Amino acid sequence: MNSSPRTVLLILLACFSACLGTVYDNVTRLPGLTFDFVILGGGTAGNVVAHRLTENPAFSVLVLEAGVSNKDVLDSEVPALGAGLLVPGAPYTWSYVTTPQTAAENRVLRYPRGHLLGGTSSINGMWYTRGSQDDFDRYAEVTGDPGWGWLAMQPYFRKNEKWTEPADHHNTSGQFDPSVHSTTGINSVSLPGFQWPMFSRVIKTTTEMPDDFPFMLDMNAGIPLGVGWAQSTIGHGARSSSAVSYLATPFIERPNLHVLINAQVSRVLSINASRGSIHFSQVEFSQDRRGKHSYHVYIFPSNQPPTELFIVNAAKEIIISAGSVGSPQILLNSGVGDRTTLASLGIPCLVDNPSVGQNLSEQPLVSNSWFVNSTQTFESYTQNDTQLTLDLDRWNRTRQGPLVSTIVGGQAAFLRISEEESTIFQQHPDPAAGNNTPHIELQNGIGLDTSVPAEGGNFISLQTAVVSPASRGSIALNTSDPFQAPLIDLGLFVDDYDFFAMRIAIKKAVKFLSGNAWKGYVIRPIDDLAQALISDDALDAYMRNTVIAACHIVGSAAMSPENATWGVVNPDLLLKGATGIRIIDASVMPYIPSGHTQAPTYAIAERGADLIKQKWM
Ligand SMILES: Cc1cc2nc3c(=O)[nH]c(=O)nc-3n(C[C@H](O)[C@H](O)[C@H](O)COP(=O)(O)OP(=O)(O)OC[C@H]3O[C@@H](n4cnc5c(N)ncnc54)[C@H](O)[C@@H]3O)c2cc1C
Ligand SMILES: *[C@@H]1O[C@H](CO)[C@@H](O)[C@H](O)[C@H]1NC(C)=O
Ligand SMILES: *[C@@H]1O[C@H](CO)[C@@H](O)[C@H](O)[C@H]1NC(C)=O
Ligand SMILES: *[C@@H]1O[C@H](CO)[C@@H](O)[C@H](O)[C@H]1NC(C)=O
Ligand SMILES: *[C@@H]1O[C@H](CO)[C@@H](O)[C@H](O)[C@H]1NC(C)=O
Ligand SMILES: *[C@@H]1O[C@H](CO)[C@@H](O)[C@H](O)[C@H]1NC(C)=O
Ligand SMILES: *[C@@H]1O[C@H](CO)[C@@H](O)[C@H](O)[C@H]1NC(C)=O
Ligand SMILES: *[C@@H]1O[C@H](CO)[C@@H](O)[C@H](O)[C@H]1NC(C)=O
Ligand SMILES: *[C@@H]1O[C@H](CO)[C@@H](O)[C@H](O)[C@H]1NC(C)=O
Ligand SMILES: *[C@@H]1O[C@H](CO)[C@@H](O)[C@H](O)[C@H]1NC(C)=O
Repeated sequence: MNSSPRTVLLILLACFSACLGTVYDNVTRLPGLTFDFVILGGGTAGNVVAHRLTENPAFSVLVLEAGVSNKDVLDSEVPALGAGLLVPGAPYTWSYVTTPQTAAENRVLRYPRGHLLGGTSSINGMWYTRGSQDDFDRYAEVTGDPGWGWLAMQPYFRKNEKWTEPADHHNTSGQFDPSVHSTTGINSVSLPGFQWPMFSRVIKTTTEMPDDFPFMLDMNAGIPLGVGWAQSTIGHGARSSSAVSYLATPFIERPNLHVLINAQVSRVLSINASRGSIHFSQVEFSQDRRGKHSYHVYIFPSNQPPTELFIVNAAKEIIISAGSVGSPQILLNSGVGDRTTLASLGIPCLVDNPSVGQNLSEQPLVSNSWFVNSTQTFESYTQNDTQLTLDLDRWNRTRQGPLVSTIVGGQAAFLRISEEESTIFQQHPDPAAGNNTPHIELQNGIGLDTSVPAEGGNFISLQTAVVSPASRGSIALNTSDPFQAPLIDLGLFVDDYDFFAMRIAIKKAVKFLSGNAWKGYVIRPIDDLAQALISDDALDAYMRNTVIAACHIVGSAAMSPENATWGVVNPDLLLKGATGIRIIDASVMPYIPSGHTQAPTYAIAERGADLIKQKWM
């Protein structure tokens, strides 16, 4: 598509009648069906790529997003209300469940992913952690591309990050290291904007037990070891998702940027697949597919697509940014995957690659809660409608008060399992990326984040996570219907090391709260945790019965060296074995970073966009 003045005029006219910026909800409103770049998924990474490519006015870009608009979704704006987005049946998440988790009592877990513009950055917990220097240096080593190393990636973290004052404008001196942050990026990042009484006790613990829990000035400086203040993708008391930031006015008004919501991609198509080498240049999608399950497999172009499917063309590249579940699913739907498995589903194989959907990595997480002798916890706010109305009104008028920050996200401890604590490393290679990389994390919560015990009360929690896990899982198709949910196996605890590490993490959480700082404040663990602490067997049962996912999956379309026998994309993020497709999202990380995954995803997307520009400029 070229952006002639007439096209621009048409788009402007269309916008007056039909859209929010250039966000369309109906394919019939698009100015054409051919674009230079078609991006599949308007999520965390996809919106970065859309923003950066449309900086060049000569490129036309279409984003296809399956989910709904993020506009006026209050629970996505108010940080403390984020849990409301995850309610089953709400349109803001994909209603995925996992396969029975064999090392966790065969439990089937709900597995949310963002289903609105901004993707998972519109529903996540907003933690901003880059991972360790070792994590990125390992990416460089396993891909053979030094461009993925920690130092080389710093400019991309900086392009993404816009360091912002916290909502309460408190003195942040000593709570972070300004030298490692950028104030000139796109996406807001800030320290907690409301001070809960728990916070000072956490900091006091670092002076009482510095050997176990040393203070860390900044968890984003490359060596995230110790207890430090959390940084969140929050700006002026509101969530800063990729939709709020990268698609803000005036960016969304660029005449070369088109975003279509309610557009679920089924497949990418190769018009000349029969001639040997595969080049993908078309994208097939449907509008309003939620809940509908009828689809007939057909071979294009001999059979015409069913009428409810649409096709758009990418003149330069298709960029798949549908996330760690969606991206491998689109590839598999399209015949890119293990030949035998695809054949068993009746899907013609275009590119035989057994790595698609394999090697998925997720962090196991357990929520541990304690009763506290205080009314200054979230329960007193979110479970009291009178108080909640007052606070929401305050948030709305001033962007101040307890709703400007998240329930879990004030501070965190990133820790290593020391040699003395464990003989595990004599039996099991250390899965962490290096000696400056944490094994486990404790995240504090100002309230209970599981179900409320019948007796009520006030709570704090310490969530424990194994941030450098060894287990691997997979994404696979359940049927040949591209609109059916895939099979999501997180592999939680399938490697005994992860179970072992979780046991140590929970014991460290108990130790953390045993210090003087907590005397008279922490009353006792809630019942299920109290039971678990009676014996090692009880603790093991508690872990298997309560473990959930940190929701940080990566690796299902992993990068590997150009001629490796495994992996899905090359270090330049181009799909192996075909042309025309790049994958840019969390799925390309071959190992999970030792923290939360959105900041690495943003930085990877910034570099990915740069790689595309270098090729086509
Ligand atoms: C509940 C929750 C809490 C989290 N908390 C944190 C946190 O606090 N900090 C942190 O760093 N990380 C957190 N994460 C993880 C982090 O948010 C993700 O790793 C990251 O946002 C992934 O980005 P992505 O671009 O890979 O995918 P996404 O942001 O999920 O983007 C994928 C997009 O593609 C769309 N899509 C998928 N399939 C199709 C299709 N077939 N057709 C069209 N569109 C499609 C989706 O709707 C979505 O918009 C959390 C995740 C969850 C689920
Ligand atoms: C899109 O618009 C066309 C023409 O106005 C209409 O027939 C169709 O039902 C609309 N589709 C959706 C999904 O709203
Ligand atoms: C912030 O606190 C630091 C030390 O805690 C102090 O040196 C500095 O003067 C304070 N800044 C302001 C603006 O009060
Ligand atoms: C397939 O088509 C694309 C463009 O449509 C072209 O660049 C490529 O060379 C073709 N491949 C073959 C094998 O014909
Ligand atoms: C999984 O990743 C490892 C490297 O981390 C690689 O050796 C192996 O071949 C991969 N397996 C698949 C199925 O891609
Ligand atoms: C709920 O909040 C209101 C307003 O702060 C307060 O007056 C009331 O006592 C609270 N109710 C309970 C049960 O704590
Ligand atoms: C916020 O304030 C505006 C303007 O007064 C009002 O229209 C809107 O309904 C308020 N929103 C909430 C959630 O209170
Ligand atoms: C897989 O498909 C079968 C048959 O359609 C269905 O019964 C089952 O619920 C599906 N599983 C998942 C996890 O969607
Ligand atoms: C709660 O704190 C008060 C003082 O603030 C103290 O008197 C009381 O003993 C504490 N209760 C418990 C159960 O620790
Ligand atoms: C991969 O193999 C091709 C063909 O043999 C070769 O041209 C290319 O240099 C190789 N790439 C690397 C990184 O080794």
